[in-house]
Amino acid sequence: MNIVLIGHGRMGKEVESVAAERGAKILRVLNSNNNIGSMGITDHALADADVCIDFSHPGVVVDNIKAVAGCGKDMVVGTTGWHDHLDFVKALVEKHEIGLVHAANFSLGVNLFMQIVHDAARLMDKYPDYDVALNETHHAGKADSPSGTALALGSIILQSIRRKQQLLTHAPQIPVKAEQLHLSSTRVGQVTGKHEVLFDSESDSLSLIHAAKNRRGFALGALLAAEWLRGRKGMFTMRDVILG
Ligand SMILES: NC(=O)c1ccc[n+]([C@@H]2O[C@H](COP(=O)([O-])OP(=O)(O)OC[C@H]3O[C@@H](n4cnc5c(N)ncnc54)[C@H](OP(=O)(O)O)[C@@H]3O)[C@@H](O)[C@H]2O)c1
Repeated sequence: MNIVLIGHGRMGKEVESVAAERGAKILRVLNSNNNIGSMGITDHALADADVCIDFSHPGVVVDNIKAVAGCGKDMVVGTTGWHDHLDFVKALVEKHEIGLVHAANFSLGVNLFMQIVHDAARLMDKYPDYDVALNETHHAGKADSPSGTALALGSIILQSIRRKQQLLTHAPQIPVKAEQLHLSSTRVGQVTGKHEVLFDSESDSLSLIHAAKNRRGFALGALLAAEWLRGRKGMFTMRDVILG
């Protein structure tokens, strides 16, 4: 697989290193120096590329997508912060008949975990003896709380377990109501990211945990998405990739 990398920061470098392990070839790297106004994305620059992988910046990603679509090439978009332009991008993908995979979290493990939590929650919908709660733990320097992934997990559980109807993200000063889903956040040390879903009954507890070790999982997920995209046209998310 021949790849043009757009963005060569923390994630771009990680994709480069995992691509080398998997035998994929990075043809060209674009950054803020050689791609001002997406000028580096030309038919000539992408001629031999199978796919472009973008981990750049929210302020430039939509122009990058427009330029890549204009060259008729497929794309994996890891850059976040452009959700408001989703309809515009969808129209571009259809007009130029390309394939595009996007995801706010490309980690294969996190996406598998979300599907497992979805299936577990649908099962637990039938068993009211079990209560459910969420906890996420991240390094002390993390800016946002709760994490976006924890909010996504919360929404999966609320959609799947009918007795849970409201997400409670602050520490409760009064007993948690039966219809509330408590999501607690812990900030400590250097933890890359840990998410836990706990089902608890009078007799026992069941716990599902995803613990990230590094950024490699994001890069691997983006490369798997690029491989999966071959021959497919349209707009996809990582959920489509893992469900095959
Ligand atoms: N979906 C996921 O799973 C996932 C995971 C992690 C991060 N992300 C997202 O991915 C994005 C990048 O994250 P990061 O940690 O790699 O950021 P970063 O380290 O700040 O790197 C950003 C890169 O974008 C480049 N860039 C800026 N303008 C550009 C342009 N016009 N054309 C091409 N490249 C340009 C920068 O180039 P210079 O080096 O020349 O400044 C830099 O190499 C962010 O939006 C982040 O939220 C997504």
